[in-house]
Amino acid sequence: MNNVTEDIINVGVDDRKIDLFEGMYRVPDGITYNSYVIYDDKIVVMDSVDAHFGEEWLDNLAKTLGDREPDYLIVQHVEPDHSGSIKAFKDKYPRAVLVGNQKTFVMLGEYFGVDYAVNGMTVKNGDKLSLGKHELTFLFAPMVHWPEVMFTYESSERVLFSADAFGSFGVAGDSCADWDDVARRYYIGIVGKFGVQVQSVLNKLAGYELSCICPLHGCAIAETDIPHAVEIYRRWASYEPEIEGTLIAYSSVYGHTKEAAELLGDELKQRGGAVKIVDLVRDDWSECVAQAFRYSKLVVASTTYNGGIFPAAREFIDRLTERNFRRRKIGFIENGTWAPVCAKQMAEKFALAVDLTFANTVVKVRSALNEESINQIRELANELSTHN
Ligand code: FEO
Repeated sequence: MNNVTEDIINVGVDDRKIDLFEGMYRVPDGITYNSYVIYDDKIVVMDSVDAHFGEEWLDNLAKTLGDREPDYLIVQHVEPDHSGSIKAFKDKYPRAVLVGNQKTFVMLGEYFGVDYAVNGMTVKNGDKLSLGKHELTFLFAPMVHWPEVMFTYESSERVLFSADAFGSFGVAGDSCADWDDVARRYYIGIVGKFGVQVQSVLNKLAGYELSCICPLHGCAIAETDIPHAVEIYRRWASYEPEIEGTLIAYSSVYGHTKEAAELLGDELKQRGGAVKIVDLVRDDWSECVAQAFRYSKLVVASTTYNGGIFPAAREFIDRLTERNFRRRKIGFIENGTWAPVCAKQMAEKFALAVDLTFANTVVKVRSALNEESINQIRELANELSTHN
């Protein structure tokens, strides 16, 4: 538990046991499910937590509330990492009113088989709720990250409760110094597909003064850090790269494709370029995807396998295109002993994305680097080093 302000307290929990967030993201540093209490004449709780932590959360809540009881539970997002303990909350505090929108209550009904709208409060975009000196405004944020999501703005202390937006992996406190990295992997992985909707909600927020952003995962963002956080969110949401440079993402069976990737990296560095190299088999896949969104250029280097793209490279491209990867320059290195054919197939997979340009030079490695493929790597390095 920690205080955001004198009247706003995070009663959420740290999950250090989870292996895969959303069933697919490795989180070796855990994740938090934040939940906030606002004290006033009326007491509000913002969101519940994952069902595995309901007891711990309710204990935190009881310690914070003392002899008082909550008046409202606001449900900003129904995904079960936040709604999983609503039933336990209602069992303990039956008089508390659930606050959500029309979609919220439909989804809660699907998950819990209970029509919480009956004794709940259904709000519309822009509706307000006064707690005494605090006043909340509900701001719908559809598809950030589900259709029912809404943010909540508290005007007396200028605090934005932002649901999943501005969230980050890692247990808060441990990870806040590396916010860009933990927030990027979270954002690109989970919300990256919905850039248009994120831009729309950022535009809505432009009229609000903010002293603090309180997301449902990870670190609260202090006033001094908000301009940077909003700026980098605008960049991510508009698919603008953070770095002018090249990510080289390779998969290699016997090391020859890796050697080609590393030679390209050296050649680019010699030309003054920023370069990062990732191993698509051994490095965390969601970090590789996040890094691809970070750099302005991408080279995928793959072995030909079963007459196609090596599985890790194929999945990498799928994970990019399903997140609306765009506005980048792409190059390819293919390898094969008797039939190197995967560059063409990789280009075809990228056809699902828009606003991409492709390097003219395709590096073809036949088993191992030779003079011809080394020259192609130098040509590709030249092409990627020109500003066009
Ligand atoms: Fe943290 Fe979309 O749930």
